[in-house]
Amino acid sequence: MIRAFQPIAGVMTAPTKPLLRVLSGETLPTPPMWIMRQAGRYLPEYRELRATTSSFMEFCYSPAKAAEATLQPIRRYGFDAAILFSDILVVPDALGQPVSFGEGEGPRLPPITTGAELARLKDEIDLEHLAPVFDAIGRVKAGLGPETTLLGFCGAPWTVGSYMIAGKGTPELAPSRLVAYRDPAFMAALIDKLVAASTRYLVRQFEAGVDAVQIFESFAGALTPQAFERYSLQPIRRIVEGVRAAVPGARIIVFARASGLGHARVPETGASAVGLDWAVDGAWASGAIPADVAVQGNLDPLTVVAGGAAMEDGARAVLSSFAGRPHIFNLGHGIVPETPPEHVARLVKLVRQG
Ligand code: CP3
Repeated sequence: MIRAFQPIAGVMTAPTKPLLRVLSGETLPTPPMWIMRQAGRYLPEYRELRATTSSFMEFCYSPAKAAEATLQPIRRYGFDAAILFSDILVVPDALGQPVSFGEGEGPRLPPITTGAELARLKDEIDLEHLAPVFDAIGRVKAGLGPETTLLGFCGAPWTVGSYMIAGKGTPELAPSRLVAYRDPAFMAALIDKLVAASTRYLVRQFEAGVDAVQIFESFAGALTPQAFERYSLQPIRRIVEGVRAAVPGARIIVFARASGLGHARVPETGASAVGLDWAVDGAWASGAIPADVAVQGNLDPLTVVAGGAAMEDGARAVLSSFAGRPHIFNLGHGIVPETPPEHVARLVKLVRQG
């Protein structure tokens, strides 16, 4: 059961935080900005903090450290949003499929590919297991100014399910694509489990104090149009509806990376904003996405590694593409570890002061 909770500031009332105003359909003269993966290895203060805990999952479950990592980029750059420091894979972990990260490796999970293996997971997501995440949300909230939006997040079912099936990251998602073709009943059951788990998890994040959430569909680009509809758009729509049933008016950003023309279908999920990757043409997106739905993005992260004209011209092109409509400035995917922090400072200045 979802617990009853108090009306949430910024959800039930007219918002004052710039990013929430844009998620309500307002156009601001200067778009609010944040950066995907803004807390991370390109920041020396993050690397120093991260070095105090060897296991990445343990770091995610340490409320004081996760809260500090969340706040570091806000202190340094004054972004309009803080995104909770955690990972999309805490969901399988809390369903009883243990997740680990080896030294210099991506995630590792014991793969689940059959109904029998799926049945061994917990019936429902264990929110007690995730108590440190909700504790971190409270700590971050206490450390943020009134202008800054606190974003929670989860991975979309197809993206998280692909890790659960393969047990690791795979370039073209062959394991989960094959399972979906060979055993659609299994795939449907896994997606259903993740829709329920993600909905409960996001509602609990709102109860703990986040102002809005982002759903990361990082692997949308591996799907055929039919599979995108079935395994991405429909499950995300169910999550959006489920979250709003418990949190009326909840603001939700949906980022279906590499979905190409599929970006134009994301509003069907009920999203408040459509995240755009860097391959999306701004003029096309402006025409294809209804004017009352915000867009977020979409500077190529590698321009911020390069800096100089590549970054500045790129940022100006993004700003001019989306001037006159609700827009949240962001990169087209996560910032990369090689990024010089001073380039980010220059980018913030350019977006805010030209
Ligand atoms: O600043 C933020 O954006 C908040 C934190 C955040 C992390 N992961 C921290 C992290 C967020 C929002 C995520 C989401 C996430 N995790 C996604 C979706 C976004 C995307 O990039 O498409 C995905 C696919 C994952 C899964 C994941 N987590 C992988 C594949 C890896 C290893 C690859 C890598 O970059 O090392 C992680 C680990 C991870 N999650 C790190 C961070 C900062 C690096 C590990 C470390 O710092 O030791």
